[in-house]
Amino acid sequence: MEENNKKKKGTIENQILVIFGSNGDLAKRKLMPAIFQLYIDNLLPENFVVIGAGSQEKDELTNRKEVNVNMKEFAAEAVKQNPEMLKTFLNHIYYQKVHNQTEEDFGALKTYIDALSAKLNIPQNIIYYFSIPPFLYEVVAGHMIKFGLNNEENGWKRIIIEKPFGYSYDTAIDLDTKLRAGFNEDQIYRIDHYLGKETVQNIMVTRFSNGFFEPIWNRKYIDRVEITAAEKIGVGNRGGYYDTSGAMRDMIQNHLLQVLAVVAMEPPSIFDSESIRNESVKVLQSLRPIKPHEVAANVVRGQYIETYVDEVTEKGYRQEKDVKPNSKTETFVALKIFVDNWRWGDVPFYIRTGKHLPDRVTEVVIHLKPAPHLLFKQRCVAQSTNMIILRISPDAGVAVDFGMKIPGAGYKVQNVNMAFHYSDLAQNKISEAYERLLLDCMIGDSTLYARADAVKASWKFVDPILNAWENNPDIPLYFYECNTWGPKESNLLFGDKELKWRAPFKKFKTE
Ligand code: BG6
Repeated sequence: MEENNKKKKGTIENQILVIFGSNGDLAKRKLMPAIFQLYIDNLLPENFVVIGAGSQEKDELTNRKEVNVNMKEFAAEAVKQNPEMLKTFLNHIYYQKVHNQTEEDFGALKTYIDALSAKLNIPQNIIYYFSIPPFLYEVVAGHMIKFGLNNEENGWKRIIIEKPFGYSYDTAIDLDTKLRAGFNEDQIYRIDHYLGKETVQNIMVTRFSNGFFEPIWNRKYIDRVEITAAEKIGVGNRGGYYDTSGAMRDMIQNHLLQVLAVVAMEPPSIFDSESIRNESVKVLQSLRPIKPHEVAANVVRGQYIETYVDEVTEKGYRQEKDVKPNSKTETFVALKIFVDNWRWGDVPFYIRTGKHLPDRVTEVVIHLKPAPHLLFKQRCVAQSTNMIILRISPDAGVAVDFGMKIPGAGYKVQNVNMAFHYSDLAQNKISEAYERLLLDCMIGDSTLYARADAVKASWKFVDPILNAWENNPDIPLYFYECNTWGPKESNLLFGDKELKWRAPFKKFKTE
């Protein structure tokens, strides 16, 4: 099984994509538009079909009509530019009713796939996309195994699952064991759309393809690192999911620890999936555990409250649909983390994320230590340290911030910067993360997918914090107003009155 999967890596073969939950939001909004874009860009194999597998009973034609309508809404620009291609694309879409909890439906799916692959002469190289609620992952995997949908005798089989990969360390291990009953690790693609972001990948290129960043990328020159992922909107209609998750499980355990790993990892010996993931997992395994009694001082949690902003009253989190009225779920987290290894010993990494903050922005800021001898200290009119800013979104780019002499008499220094915007590139179309990730899975490249050991390592770090919150009512949940940068207590993490979270870099736009 393993051999078969490995053999086919690197080339795009004719194949089938089965989407469980094809009538759901993710499939409509993200997956189908991404597949259509790959089709427009001529990146799909010649013989390729998508089989929607949803719980609704409907025939193929009705399904195609629905996909047509959805595409006009969720891939509006692509459809406008390529109306003829949408028509031909629809011919590749098929449908089979599959109720995830009904075992026999998987037998019927197998029969359907056998017949379709024979009719269209497509080998049974199949990706199964689990676009379904996570509690169904093991149910669906179990049914698939029962009917041999994982059997690789007549073509490779891969599954893609979305986060959350478990709800805690133990449940993550349990899920993994159940999936591994029918699939090898290299058949399991755990999607983390942050790793699919062009600009997250560019962090590796910035670091490892330039001679001047890497020599200073260590504890000798770096004072601290800040990672911010801020969102302007609240939880909206996702209250049901979010209330069982919270910002720590929703953003930190996966996306932001992965970003940290890319910022902090050692250069891989070669640029392939295993080597890169070997290096990033080492970072996650080196995170200094935060003990229960250290949680209050190193992690700040917050929840947004009803606020009057710009003549509109924004709902508080507890008033959101499907949220418990006394919920203690955090919609904001800020934490201070150390990576205990030779490169990063004692350099703090500050990470924060939250809903209903003033801007939508994700960026990494590397703060360099001040020059060893501050000749111009008295004359400095701005902060004396240098920064490297890696803007992930929006208005992606890289900037460096440094001191310059203010023209005129004397030696007054001010901070200036040099900024590169992705939008200035001639070829500046940034692919959607799902396009890149789907294509990688089709080719068999798992570099940008989370490996089981990385998932486990990040749960191992996050679990004690979640447990402390649950078990110790003395750890405060701070309330913050919408359109603010979260609880002001988050600045206390710096342990220095002079320091606080940086506002997003102004030269790059926010949303
Ligand atoms: C998702 C989270 O994984 O990432 C959402 O579930 C969050 O709550 C989203 O809004 C943020 O992604 P992006 O790409 O908009 O930064």
